[in-house]
Amino acid sequence: MSKFYITTPLYYVNDEPHIGHAYTTILADVIARIKKLQDNDVYFLTGTDEHGQKVQEAAKKRNVQPKEHVDEYVKRFKATWENLNIDYDYFIRTTDKNHTERVKQILADLYKKGDIYFDEYEGLYSVSEERFITEKEKEEGNFRQIKKIKEKNYFFKMSKYQSNLIKHIESNENFILPKSRRNEILGFLKNDLNDLCISRPKSRLAWGIELPFDKEYVTYVWFDALINYISAIGYNNDNEKFNYYWPADYHLMAKDILTTHCVYWPTMLMSCNISLPNTIFAHGWWLMDNTKMSKSLGNVVKPLDLADKYGSDALRYYLMRNMVLGQDASFTIESFKKRYNSDLANDYGNLVNRIFILISKHFENSIPEKGKYDLDDNDFIKNIENLTNLSIQNYSNIKIHDGIENTISIFRTVNKFLEDKAPWKTIKENKNIAGTTIYLSAEALRIGTVLLYPIIPEKSKKILNAMDCCPKDDTTFGFLKENSSINVIKNIFPRIED
Ligand code: ME8
Ligand code: MG
Repeated sequence: MSKFYITTPLYYVNDEPHIGHAYTTILADVIARIKKLQDNDVYFLTGTDEHGQKVQEAAKKRNVQPKEHVDEYVKRFKATWENLNIDYDYFIRTTDKNHTERVKQILADLYKKGDIYFDEYEGLYSVSEERFITEKEKEEGNFRQIKKIKEKNYFFKMSKYQSNLIKHIESNENFILPKSRRNEILGFLKNDLNDLCISRPKSRLAWGIELPFDKEYVTYVWFDALINYISAIGYNNDNEKFNYYWPADYHLMAKDILTTHCVYWPTMLMSCNISLPNTIFAHGWWLMDNTKMSKSLGNVVKPLDLADKYGSDALRYYLMRNMVLGQDASFTIESFKKRYNSDLANDYGNLVNRIFILISKHFENSIPEKGKYDLDDNDFIKNIENLTNLSIQNYSNIKIHDGIENTISIFRTVNKFLEDKAPWKTIKENKNIAGTTIYLSAEALRIGTVLLYPIIPEKSKKILNAMDCCPKDDTTFGFLKENSSINVIKNIFPRIED
């Protein structure tokens, strides 16, 4: 059994979760479920980023203390993940004592080592992004609320690790994925790195982890939050666990936080003498009307509203199927309904109905016997086997949308097979031939349903249970037991009418 450690970003609790957060978390859940089915020892981590200016401001707006604010908002994230069937192994909050202790310890170590130093710095500061920016970044225009600030602060010697980081990226093809993001970071690293300002004077920001070597300052929110990936699995606390799960196999996120993960985080790890994660994967953005869905822009879709109305599986399916991993995707209710109706209600749901009705009507609720296969049957089996292999292969390469498409193709193939064979007609002349057709169709339905389990765990389990099967079952053709009994289920994916 091999270990598999996967993480999502820790989301800011300055507002409620939206579709963007749901996407990354569902993606992590899908990958974790795939790995679990393959018998890996999976550790799936998610959580919340609770310090810093954004959160302090959100609390101030609501007229409550930051601690009170985060305690209330973290519940909304947890409730959302529960409703969306997110089966994480651990939920970390950056206000957890175990985490803050680890951060302080690392700060103290790096200070002692000389990788953190005190200096006065005058520069441009983006209040919205909570960090110093360069003249060039200002000109590029992606930062808001820019002020000139002159301040004494603590700095992390990020520049010291620049050449080692470049070497690491160049010699590890899968360290940053997709490739385009890897090139972006290598491009960024062609310029000299500045050292990273890792403190904020309490006069400006009080809500953070106090520096262990200076009471007047708190830690910069990113220097705090990134450490979660190691504090959560026992770094400097339960070293056996840490050594087992680290390095992370996948850090998942969207491209908005690529630099912090591909530059800040690896150099921090190098300074701590800890090995680097295997893969940092940055997916694209969900857009609304061609702009990024974001809390600060106020154009968000709340995942729970959709899940309440159409079921969590419908939402999971849409998000996984409609985003080509690595590219941006556009979120609209119309595309949601269209996808649901065509794939789930039509191709899949109708097939489920059809097969269950045939078995209940003609075979007294038990799976017919295989009988003898003719040429068409053998062709059909070959097609299903090919699609199954493709789907598994695509899932393994994290091409989730392609893996799903292969599975829906299985259902389309079965629908076509049923049309051609018309067992509802042949049943009158030869019950054995009709039985073979129905057995093969039911078996392909079972295999496709097993393949969809990581994406739509709730409905998939329901269908498999009704066939006396389960998600862990084999996807080899012919596994379905003859004469086993079924429980008829009806209308598993009701059409969405306008
Ligand atoms: O950045 N499309 O938290 P955050 C796709 N606390 N994914 C999106 C998205 C969109 N429109 N909007 C958000 C932070 N996301 C830090 C992270 S990690 C140690 C600290 C998802 O609440 C996506 O995963 O702004 C993105 O990277 C993340 O939410 C940002 O969440
Ligand atoms: Mg953000």
